[in-house]
This record gives sequence, structure tokens and C-alpha cells, in this order.
Amino acid sequence: MTLQFSLGSAAPETVETPCVVVGVYEGGVLTSAAARVNTAAQGAIKQQMESGDITGKAGSTTVMFAPAGLAAKRVLVVGLGAQKSFDAARYQKICLESTRALGRLPIDSAVSYLSEVDVPNRDAAWRVRTAALGADHAAYRYTATFKPREKPAQTELGAIQFTASDDAVTGLDQAKAMAEGIRFARELANLPPNICNPAYIAEQATQFAERHDKVSCNVLDHVEMEKLGFGSLLAVGRGSVNKPKLVVLNYQGGNADDKPYAFVGKGITFDTGGISLKPGPGMEEMKFDMGGAAGVLGAFVATVKMNLPVNLVCVVPAVENMPDGDAYRPSDVLTSLSGLTIEVLNTDAEGRLILCDALTYTAQTFQPQAIIDAATLTGACVIALGKHATGLMSKHDDLAAELLAAGELTLDRAWRLPLWDDYQTQLDSGFADVANIGGKSAGAITAGCFLARFTEGQRWAHLDIAGTAWDEGRKGLATGRPVSLLTQWLIDRTATSH
Ligand code: BES
Ligand code: MN
Ligand code: ZN
Repeated sequence: MTLQFSLGSAAPETVETPCVVVGVYEGGVLTSAAARVNTAAQGAIKQQMESGDITGKAGSTTVMFAPAGLAAKRVLVVGLGAQKSFDAARYQKICLESTRALGRLPIDSAVSYLSEVDVPNRDAAWRVRTAALGADHAAYRYTATFKPREKPAQTELGAIQFTASDDAVTGLDQAKAMAEGIRFARELANLPPNICNPAYIAEQATQFAERHDKVSCNVLDHVEMEKLGFGSLLAVGRGSVNKPKLVVLNYQGGNADDKPYAFVGKGITFDTGGISLKPGPGMEEMKFDMGGAAGVLGAFVATVKMNLPVNLVCVVPAVENMPDGDAYRPSDVLTSLSGLTIEVLNTDAEGRLILCDALTYTAQTFQPQAIIDAATLTGACVIALGKHATGLMSKHDDLAAELLAAGELTLDRAWRLPLWDDYQTQLDSGFADVANIGGKSAGAITAGCFLARFTEGQRWAHLDIAGTAWDEGRKGLATGRPVSLLTQWLIDRTATSH
């Protein structure tokens, strides 16, 4: 079920709701909403703090049932941690945790005063947006491939009202659009590869275009790509019966003659490694190898839903990487769409091989004012940055700074790695213009350097989301990253260029 969000301004002690949500800091400090609830309820919160039942520890939650003196049926008291060090990341965390706690209660709605809590360097619209996105993230459930359930056992949370002044309404509108994009991305990435194959991704994009004004979709199949010369992309798909598709979505939200922005996303619907087969354990996680595709499609959805005044194209090479009698092999030399030849030294370095043709096509077809690609490209990026930061690579300092700022604001953060030409010699080949792997060192960077050879003259940046696209573990779900980063970046472009 998707959550409904609204804004309100009722007082916490008189609002009629199944639950009010208020915050308290460590050390007995109450937020103003908590103080009003405390006074109306004859000191009930303070008492529980003195007894040690409520600590204020960041993310901790306590439910008080039917305290006397309040119109609300319950109070959810959320710990905010130490007031001195309270920051944007902590705020996001408590928004997530409070929604998880609400989800465990038999209630259909709640009124949250967390959006009033002061966050350094962030305004009310940001607080409302972040609260709503945090709530939607926590409320998401993957159900697509379970046996359909009977009616839920208890009442389910369906709506949250946030308290804020009317000028925060842009934050709520943005949150609704971004939440749709994030859900779209998460759902697509979570689906198993026997459902979410290249044709399925193409179908989802086609249907989205049919349902929305100003949006069109064009899908190239393997026969058309063959004619056009997508030699690198098609080689990767040759081992699979699920034939490659190139999905091209176009949104005309700006002036007809404005150059578009372009997003390109790696859409490997399953990565076995091909003939350079991956080890068995953990291979199931490679269903998420279309996380870049899901991310750029999600950002496209959010942009359309927000009706942003920009032109945007979204290009997704959707391919399955399988071993087979007809599969491409190590030592094959491919001719890419750009004309550059590529020596395949490892069929598991396939992401760059589909992206290079998609990037060439995007640049040639649309002459975009900037191209951003997102890809679960290298295990090396996970070694370098772990699960928290997306790897950002670009030769354009201004573009890199814009993307870092968008990541910082949305807490969908990236960290820059260099793309210096010093690394390029690692891609030298004795049999082709470039090799598809760069050896042991700096694997995330040499993958970026490979792509750089196909984006010369373009204002281009690369996001390696191998560590950030999904949560680890058997029940790990797609995160929806980098939908927020990309969407915020576009929002910022409309704010500065108009
Ligand atoms: N999809 C993988 C990268 C990956 C690995 C993402 C683990 C997330 C978690 C990619 O296609 C791949 O296999 N890359 C190789 C490149 C190597 C052969 C140069 C890798 O990272 O091992
Ligand atoms: Mn691979
Ligand atoms: Zn891959």
C-alpha cells in the first residue's frame, strides 16, 4: 500500500488522531511539540524520561497509550539523540525509524510533529520532503512474487500528516513525485530476472509513456541495433535467449529547442559473468545488475510526475549476460558503435560494453547538454567506498560539483574518484583500440576511463552504484538510489537556468 501524505497545523495536544509523533533529545530536552503534549498530559513524558523508560537515544521509540489530557489515542515518542550533534542524516534516520514504529501499531493514520524539528542548514520544505520520503521508504513492502495474501491481520498505516507552514508544500509535492520514482526503481530492481528481463523493462517503459503526456518511448530490438552497428552491446547479449533491447524514453517538459539532459543506465537483467563465469555463492545478487537502469528510469518517472520544465532523455541498454555455445568469449575483438574496437579480456566486465554503445548512441542522437550514467559497474567500487557512497567520476569539475551537492542535499551521497589520463594505459591492448579490463588496481577508475573513451567531447559524468543500489543480505532490497540524487540535480538545473 502506498502512503498518503498531507500538511496540517493542528496543535499536538488537541489533534484527533490514532497517534501523534513527537521527538525528545537525550538528556531530558523536549522539542516544543513534546513539551506541549507533556504539559497537557500532566508531565507524562517527563515522568517516563526520569524513570529511564524514555532515553532520547537516536531512533528509539516509545508508545504511550491513551494518556489523559490529550485528544490523540496514542503518543509515539521518538529519540533524537544529542541536540548538539543533531543533523540532516540523523533527521532522516529518525523519520525512517518512527515510520517503522507506526507500522507496528494497529492504526490507519498518524500526525507527525517531527517535521517541526530544527535541522541545521535545512528549511521546512526540505524537512517535510525528507520526512515523507523516509516514511515512504520504510513503508515499502515487496510482495510481487509471494502467494497473494488474504486481508491483512491488523489495520495498516495509510496516511501521515506532517505539521508545517503552507510554504513547505513544495517539499510535499516533490516528495510525492520522488517517492513514485523511487518505488518504481525499487520494484523493478527487486523483481527476479525470470520476470524482469530486457523485454519486460522495455514493456514497463512503453506503458509509462502511454500513460503520460509529453512522454514518448522508442525501443530498438537486436535486429535494428545490428543494422546500426551496436557490435559491443550485442556481443554481451549473444549468450541469452532473452534478446537485448535499447529503451529510449523522451520527455518534452521544456522548450522544443532546449537541448535535453540525458540519463543512461546499465540494464544487465542478470549477470552470470558469461564465459568468465562468476562463482556460485552470491550470484543471485546479480539480479540487481540492472540497478542503474532502474535508477535512471525512476528519476525519469519523478521528473515527469514533478512536471519539471526540462527536456530529458533516458536510455537503457537492457541485456542478459549468460554463458552459451554462442556466447562471446575472452579474446574476441568487438567493433563498437563508435568504431573503436575492443578486446574482450573478461566477459564479466560486460557493463562497460553495453554502456559504451548506449553512450555513443545517446550523444549522436540527442546532442544532450549533459549525460549522466548510472551503473552497478564494479566490485572494486564497493571495496573503495563501501555501501554508503556512490562513486562519482567526471572530467568536468562543475558537473561533478553539481552532482555532489545534489547527493549531499538528498543524503543520496556520492564521492568523487579521479579520471586522470594516467590510468588510461592500463586499458592498452595489443589487438584492439582498447581492452575491456584494466588489471588489478583502481578497478572502479579504469572502468570509468573505459567509458571516458566513448564520451569525448561530451559533458559527462559516471555514477558507480555497485555498493549503493541494494542492501546486502538474503532479504536485502533495492534502495532506489540514485533516484533522489539525479532528480535533485535536475531540480537544481531548473532553478539556476530560468
Ligand atoms: N556487475 C558487476 C559488478 C558488481 C560486482 C556489482 C559486485 C556489485 C557487486 C560487473 O559486471 C562485474 O562483474 N565487474 C567485474 C569487473 C572485472 C571483471 C574487471 C568485477 O567487479 O569483478
Ligand atoms: Mn559482470
Ligand atoms: Zn555486471
